[in-house]
Amino acid sequence: EKTWTDLMAVADLEPGDATPVTLGRRELAVYDTVDGIYVSYARCTHGAANLCDGYFDGRHIECPLHQGLFDARTGQPKAAPARLPLRMIAARVVDGRVQVLI
Ligand code: FES
Repeated sequence: EKTWTDLMAVADLEPGDATPVTLGRRELAVYDTVDGIYVSYARCTHGAANLCDGYFDGRHIECPLHQGLFDARTGQPKAAPARLPLRMIAARVVDGRVQVLI
């Protein structure tokens, strides 16, 4: 059974960017998108890159290793060599804190 779990303060996000956060042994990426806050596992689905090291434009995250592209709001791959979707995690904001359903 998944439960809403506290992750971080919204104030600690890098505005308009992808912020790396660890939750236990999980490495997550928190995206401050034009449509609100979205969270995925931080590892690229193509290889061993942390997507938070890539370029984020508010909608799409570009992998730093081979420039695969993902929509950070849906996880869908948008440009090769990204082929598999990101593992997204449901997120919400309550009282200035980001919570994830995990
Ligand atoms: Fe991300 Fe290859 S590791 S595109």
